[in-house]
Amino acid sequence: MRAHYRAEGIVESDLAASPFDQFARWFKDAAAAGLHEPNAMVVSTADAAGRPSSRTVLLKAFDERGFVFFTNYTSRKGRELAENPAISLLFPWHPLARQVIVSGTAERIGRDETAAYFRTRPHGSQLGAWASDQSAPIASRDELERAYEELAARYPEGEQVPAPPHWGGYRVVPEAIEFWQGRLNRLHDRLRYVREGAPEAGQWRVERLAP
Ligand SMILES: Cc1cc2nc3c(=O)[nH]c(=O)nc-3n(C[C@H](O)[C@H](O)[C@H](O)COP(=O)(O)O)c2cc1C
Repeated sequence: MRAHYRAEGIVESDLAASPFDQFARWFKDAAAAGLHEPNAMVVSTADAAGRPSSRTVLLKAFDERGFVFFTNYTSRKGRELAENPAISLLFPWHPLARQVIVSGTAERIGRDETAAYFRTRPHGSQLGAWASDQSAPIASRDELERAYEELAARYPEGEQVPAPPHWGGYRVVPEAIEFWQGRLNRLHDRLRYVREGAPEAGQWRVERLAP
C-alpha cells in the first residue's frame, strides 16, 4: 500500500500568522472534503514514568487559548494528566494527505464552561457520562446497562441532568503545532509553529522540518 501524494504543498508565505487561524483553514478544508468526523483526534498522554497511552477523542472547541475536549477526569487519560499534563493531539486527515500535531499541556476548563457544554449534550449522553466509570474494569455489559436504567428512572427525558463532578473539559494549550502536507516523492511539507514566550503573548516562529 503506497499512496502518491498530491503535488500542491504549503509555503511559508501562505501560512496564517496564528497557528489557530491556520488550523481553522485546514479544519474547514477537512469538513468541506466530507471527511467523517474531522474533529476526531488521537490524544496521547503519559504517566509520571513516561509510559505513553493513546485514544481517539472529539475536539469540541478551539480558539486562541487552545483546543478543548471532554472526558472523564478519573479515566486513564484523566489520571495520567493529573500526574503529567504533557499531551499531544494528532488529527489524521488521511484523504487530504494532511496531518496536524499539537503538543503542549492540558489544563481543566472551568466548571461553568463544562456545565454549559454538558447542557448541549443529548439526554442519553448526559446519562452515559454518569453511568460509566470510564476506564475501570466492569463485570459485564449488564452492569453498565443497569446503571444507565437507574439513572434514566431518576432523570426522565426532559429533566435537567447535572454535569458529573468527575467529568469535564480539558484545554490543550499548545507549545507547538505542526502542519504536514504529503507531496510527491516523499518530499512532504512540514511547517511547525513554535510558541515564543507566554501563551498570552501570541508570538510564534515557524520552522520547516525535513520530511
Ligand atoms: C471517534 C471516537 C470519538 C471518541 N470521543 C471521545 C470523547 O470525546 N471523549 C472521551 O472521553 N472518549 C471518547 N472516545 C473514547 C476514547 O477513545 C476512549 O475509549 C475513552 O476516552 C477511554 O480512554 P482512556 O481509558 O485512555 O482514558 C471516542 C472514541 C472514538 C473512536
